[in-house]
Amino acid sequence: MNPSGLTIGIMTINGFEFHPNARFRQEAAKRGHGIMLIDPYGMGCMIEEGKPGVFMADHPDLPDLVMPRQGSPMGEYGFVLLRQFDALGIPLKNSLEGVTIARNQFITLQHLTAARIPVPDTCFVTREDNFFRAVAKLGGYPVVAKQVDGMGGDGVTLVNSREEARAYLSSRFSPRKGGLVQAYILPEDRMDVRLLVIGNKVTGAMALTPATGQFKANIHQQGRARPFVPDRQQVKMAVAAARACCLDVAGVDMLVTPGQRARIIEVNYSPGFRGLEEATGLNIAGKILDHVIKPGQTCR
Ligand SMILES: Nc1ncnc2c1ncn2[C@@H]1O[C@H](COP(=O)(O)OP(=O)(O)OP(=O)(O)O)[C@@H](O)[C@H]1O
Ligand SMILES: [Mg+2]
Repeated sequence: MNPSGLTIGIMTINGFEFHPNARFRQEAAKRGHGIMLIDPYGMGCMIEEGKPGVFMADHPDLPDLVMPRQGSPMGEYGFVLLRQFDALGIPLKNSLEGVTIARNQFITLQHLTAARIPVPDTCFVTREDNFFRAVAKLGGYPVVAKQVDGMGGDGVTLVNSREEARAYLSSRFSPRKGGLVQAYILPEDRMDVRLLVIGNKVTGAMALTPATGQFKANIHQQGRARPFVPDRQQVKMAVAAARACCLDVAGVDMLVTPGQRARIIEVNYSPGFRGLEEATGLNIAGKILDHVIKPGQTCR
């Protein structure tokens, strides 16, 4: 490491075998920086004589900045830890505000809507009888039921009938967290696009096709990726979506339907990028690092 090298903290439950962490380590080393993986469960917070502190079993020193990359399942405790870094004056990239918005799919849609960015018709419910009211409001089955904190498509279920709704509610619905009920858009009526926004630019984009017989296009669900060149309108919308969610680095999921305005379904604050690097040949890890180590932030 060079003497002016930074220690870049990544808040993650994964090790260096996890693709983004391995790639960040590789690219950080090329730039003379080091990566510190911060396991949220291995960290304690302290307030001593009116001053904040942290203790981490594996690390005696503090990082120079922290990238929160725990994804949406991050619990309440995750915010306690991030706030402690914030209190210590350690920059968070993405910001606390951005993480708060993006880790909940419905709060994301609220912010996109406030910024006049189109999203599919969606309800949020916490009680089972309201799930059925939501289906009626959306014009009936099929609907897509989403957990607020799903990842990689795992929290997303197609619900075709009242029977399937009952099965979903008894097995996967959490009244404590609530859930989304969203109008279903047929695979033939949409192209799934993932745009990666870094700062004020779209750095890379890919189109995704669901595997045969599937409706989810996520790579994690065996979706197939190909490079995609977004038009000016799509670029503008993706950058506006990242801004609306207060994110400097954002994976924006867009559904493109010919003859209609594109709709955004989701904005990720800690996007994976193996599929995007493979589909485009771009050095996404390097581009993210170059951005986060610059001082200042588009949104705090
Ligand atoms: N309203 C919808 N109609 C049809 N297909 C949808 C709809 N919403 C989502 N999908 C499909 O399901 C996939 C996963 O949905 P979404 O992006 O909302 O959640 P997620 O990918 O699990 O969340 P994360 O990106 O945080 O991991 C989308 O990429 C898309 O292919
Ligand atoms: Mg998604």
